[in-house]
Amino acid sequence: MKRLTLWIALVALTLPLAACETVLPDAVTTVQPTFTSIYADYLYKCADCHAPGAMGSINGIEQSLDFSTQAKAHATLMTKAKGMSGNPSACNGTAFVVAGNPGKSLLLATLDSSVRQAFDTGDGSGCDVDSITDMTIRVQGGTPSSATLTALHDWIAAGAKND
Ligand code: HEC
Repeated sequence: MKRLTLWIALVALTLPLAACETVLPDAVTTVQPTFTSIYADYLYKCADCHAPGAMGSINGIEQSLDFSTQAKAHATLMTKAKGMSGNPSACNGTAFVVAGNPGKSLLLATLDSSVRQAFDTGDGSGCDVDSITDMTIRVQGGTPSSATLTALHDWIAAGAKND
C-alpha cells in the first residue's frame, strides 16, 4: 500500500513536468543570431516597401534596401542609405550595418528605440533620433520581440555575415 501511494505521488509529480516538456521546443527554437534566422523571423516583412516595385515603395523611400530575398537583404544592408527626402534625408550616407558596432548601425536604430535614442554617427551628419524613423510601426505584426532585437544586436556584434 505504501508503495502504491508513493507511485501515485510520483506520477502526479511527473505529469505536469511532462506537460511542460511539450511546450519547451517552442522556446528552444527561438530566433538565433544568424542572418538566416533573423531574416526568416522578421526582416522578410520589410519587403512590402523595401523592394523594387513593392506595393509600399513610394517617393522619398530609402533606395538602397531590398528585402525581397535573404541574399539581396544582406547585400543591400552592407551599403549606405540613399534617396530619402525631408527630415530622414540627414541619414542619407549612413551605413545600415557597421559590423562589430550595433550602436552605430542604422538598421538596429530603426528597430530598437533605445539604440535610436542614443544614435550618433559621430560625423556631424545629423542622423540621430530626430531623423530616424521607427520602422516597427510600419510592418504587419509590429514590434519585434526582445529575442529578435537581441539576435540582431548579437549578429551585428559578431561581424554581420550572411550566415
Ligand atoms: C510601409 C512601408 C515601409 C515598411 C513596411 C518599412 N519601411 Fe523602412 N522606410 C520606409 C520609408 C518611406 C523610408 C524613408 C524614410 C521615411 O520616410 O521615414 C524608410 C527608411 C528606412 C531606413 C532608413 C533609415 C531611416 O532614416 O529611417 C531603414 C534602415 C529602413 N527603412 C528599414 C526598414 C526595416 C528593417 C523594415 C522592416 C522591419 C522597414 N524599413 C519597413 C518605408 C517602409
